[in-house]
Amino acid sequence: MPTIISVASGKGGVGKSMVVSNLGLLLARKGQRVILVDMDIGGANLHILFGMFHPPSTLTDFFSNRLTHLNDVAHSIANPASLKLIPGTGETLITANLQHAKKKRLIRHLQKLDADIILVDVGAGTSYHTLDFFLLADHFLAVATPDPTSVLDLYRFIKLAAIRKVLTAFLARDPIAEALLSKDFHSITEVLEAVGRTSESGVALAQQALQGFQPALILNRMTPKSRINTLHLQHLLKQYVGADLSVLGNIPEDPHVQQSILKYLPVVELSPRAPAAQAFDQIAENMLKLVRQPEVLSEPLKEPRKIRA
Ligand SMILES: Nc1ncnc2c1ncn2[C@@H]1O[C@H](COP(=O)(O)OP(=O)(O)OP(=O)(O)O)[C@@H](O)[C@H]1O
Ligand SMILES: [Mg+2]
Repeated sequence: MPTIISVASGKGGVGKSMVVSNLGLLLARKGQRVILVDMDIGGANLHILFGMFHPPSTLTDFFSNRLTHLNDVAHSIANPASLKLIPGTGETLITANLQHAKKKRLIRHLQKLDADIILVDVGAGTSYHTLDFFLLADHFLAVATPDPTSVLDLYRFIKLAAIRKVLTAFLARDPIAEALLSKDFHSITEVLEAVGRTSESGVALAQQALQGFQPALILNRMTPKSRINTLHLQHLLKQYVGADLSVLGNIPEDPHVQQSILKYLPVVELSPRAPAAQAFDQIAENMLKLVRQPEVLSEPLKEPRKIRA
């Protein structure tokens, strides 16, 4: 069964799709069969990053049952051919109101895809769809920039994802669900206390649901002055996952990234020696470690490269 890794950020425009396209290509070059899935409903653009302007089929064909198998929507996009892309869907009434059964079907098909690693770009925001697409994975990646608004949006995203994950352990009409839906919480301890006030036995279920929910961070657009904000981000997120978050890597602010996007190529392809491309190489290695031995998250990963002035 493939390992599914979802990539989210809360805030838009911080580099999720750029991360997914570059990591996908590097992981395929390192011998993995990789499928990228563009779950950014309404903002799908991963295909453009690879210069594919008119995808032969997209997730819309899958959701509307025009194509029955998700494999039929996976297109080879680059060299090596072991890198494929499932292009995203536009904003249709079906996708705006994607029923539970359709999400379940998508998850079943993702798990049966012919691949080693599936990278899911879940798009920005904190809608139920975005949270659910994020949570369908085996591993969770969160991208942030040092910009304070990005830090705050990621905090909000992880917080809502953690609550949503707890909610999945209970039925929709359970009083616990009602207790969690309308309150703002400041830490996962507060969430568990609220569950405990409604039902003592619910706490164990909630804790079980949260097991393994330990998103790893990718810090993008880093400059030598970025350190303070990222420490603040880690401090905030710790309250929501109950542990220090691993930083899978730092990607520097690098003009080669914009240049590569204008040429419809990942930066690791166009400018392999560029600082951002070098950072991606380390992140891809860390990701392979994570996939092969998930317990590495409780050990320090190789120190991310320092960003020099
Ligand atoms: N490390 C970087 N250095 C310089 N520019 C960058 C870097 N990372 C991202 N960018 C710029 O940010 C833009 C947005 O990146 P990207 O489209 O990957 O973000 P996103 O999070 O997927 O956005 P959305 O939420 O709209 O889907 C890129 O087009 C690029 O110009
Ligand atoms: Mg994007």
